[in-house]
Amino acid sequence: MSKKTPDLHSAYSLSSPDENRQLYAEWAGDYDDSFAGREDYQLHTHTARAFVGAGGQGPVLDVGAGTGLCGAVLSALGVGPIDATDISAEMLDQAMSKDIYRDVIEADLTRGIPVPRESYSGIVSSGTFTHGHLGPEVFPALLRVARPGAQFALSINARHFEKLGFAEKLRQLEQGQIRNLTLPEVRIYGDLAAGPNKDDTAFIALFERV
Ligand SMILES: C[S@@+](CC[C@H](N)C(=O)[O-])C[C@H]1O[C@@H](n2cnc3c(N)ncnc32)[C@H](O)[C@@H]1O
Repeated sequence: MSKKTPDLHSAYSLSSPDENRQLYAEWAGDYDDSFAGREDYQLHTHTARAFVGAGGQGPVLDVGAGTGLCGAVLSALGVGPIDATDISAEMLDQAMSKDIYRDVIEADLTRGIPVPRESYSGIVSSGTFTHGHLGPEVFPALLRVARPGAQFALSINARHFEKLGFAEKLRQLEQGQIRNLTLPEVRIYGDLAAGPNKDDTAFIALFERV
């Protein structure tokens, strides 16, 4: 078991997929209440709306789906079918209990996604490209499972974006692999949030696979 108390501070200081697996196994049962509710988390809603606003359609893969908050908004907006992938079986159990997803795929994204190439017309991710979690090195695995023309909406914590070189990676991908890139910036938390991260922002990387 992890010795870390599951909260935002410990999540931001994780340093490997195994540490993520351990922390989220403990956090899964009360993530929605203790984190999303208390911190007035909004990023999943911004991400889902941005995807739909850009014309995104199913079938969609929700990457780092966790307990399914982003999938729930997508589903309410009429998008489907939606599959969820995550490293944490416990988070995926919570997601499945919401009866939103067609299927769940337990996988460590740093090792690829075990589905056939070009399976999805849309790829979304909220809250997973952040401190202690995933960086731009996993973009090729996402592009592999996307169909030509597939719409992406990936939230990326703004400070993480600078630190891990997302801009450079996206510029490289624009040389023939992605198109129509925009990076709207949104607040991760709402007006009820308190504490040191309450004003944090994220970019939503919107683009299409060529
Ligand atoms: C902050 S949560 C976000 C969950 C959900 N998308 C949301 O917005 O509430 C980050 C998720 O990323 C997952 N994750 C972390 N590292 C991962 C990896 N290497 N592969 C797949 N999922 C990973 C965690 O298990 C966790 O469910």
